Amino acid sequence: MSAMNGIDLAVIGGTGLYRIAELEDVETLQPDTPYGAPSGPVRVGRLDGRRVAFLARHGEGHSVPPHRVNYRANLAALHALGARRVVALNTVGGIGERFGPRVLACPDQLIDYTWGRIATFCEEPGSEVLHVDFGDPYTPSLRRALLAAAAAAGVAVVDGGCYGATQGPRLETRAEIARLRRDGCDLVGMTGMPEAGLARELGLDYACLAIVANWAAGAGPVADEAITFQDVLDNVAAASSGIAPLLRRLVA
Ligand code: HPA
Repeated sequence: MSAMNGIDLAVIGGTGLYRIAELEDVETLQPDTPYGAPSGPVRVGRLDGRRVAFLARHGEGHSVPPHRVNYRANLAALHALGARRVVALNTVGGIGERFGPRVLACPDQLIDYTWGRIATFCEEPGSEVLHVDFGDPYTPSLRRALLAAAAAAGVAVVDGGCYGATQGPRLETRAEIARLRRDGCDLVGMTGMPEAGLARELGLDYACLAIVANWAAGAGPVADEAITFQDVLDNVAAASSGIAPLLRRLVA
């Protein structure tokens, strides 16, 4: 069976999430797009008989930093393969008290602090100018389905929260996180945008499953604790055991 026979769900993996080990009969595709190549191969396989596509946002060896990800190519490739629903797995820092390390969350809002990224498919001269509605940046029906799947799988996921998308690749200062908190952000990550906006321009259903890897700078109980990449990877590894059961329910 070829990948062109349709995809029930596409999953974009973030930091620490480079494969879905549970995918069966995996076909590896190297798609090209009018926007260039995606971050790496798209692996299409079966999860409980449903066709699921997986793409590692930073490449399978984590070689692409957040500001250099070709977000347009990634989404255009998944769209061209026939995906209509995308679950974005995003590794984040926690700001709000409900969002400590190893928590899974499904945010319902975002604020974009990124800059200098190509944030639209309306970039080329002559392309249609789109002003897509973005009041709800994550597709409400897909969020509901994701939360229902989590409940059915017995996986705890916090419902709601505001994702602040920062430029990176450095982490934030404590003052920056204090500002994000005042702005109403509960989570902070470097890859939430422009991905969500581009998905909306393509008409894809798109929702975020955020994996909290650390307290954002100054947000945790130990105010001056440094954040190490190893802590991030360890917490993502610990929190990700719920992801495959959740995805199985979602595609069922
Ligand atoms: N800030 C921004 N992005 C992140 C963080 C953080 O603290 N942790 C994981 N991704």
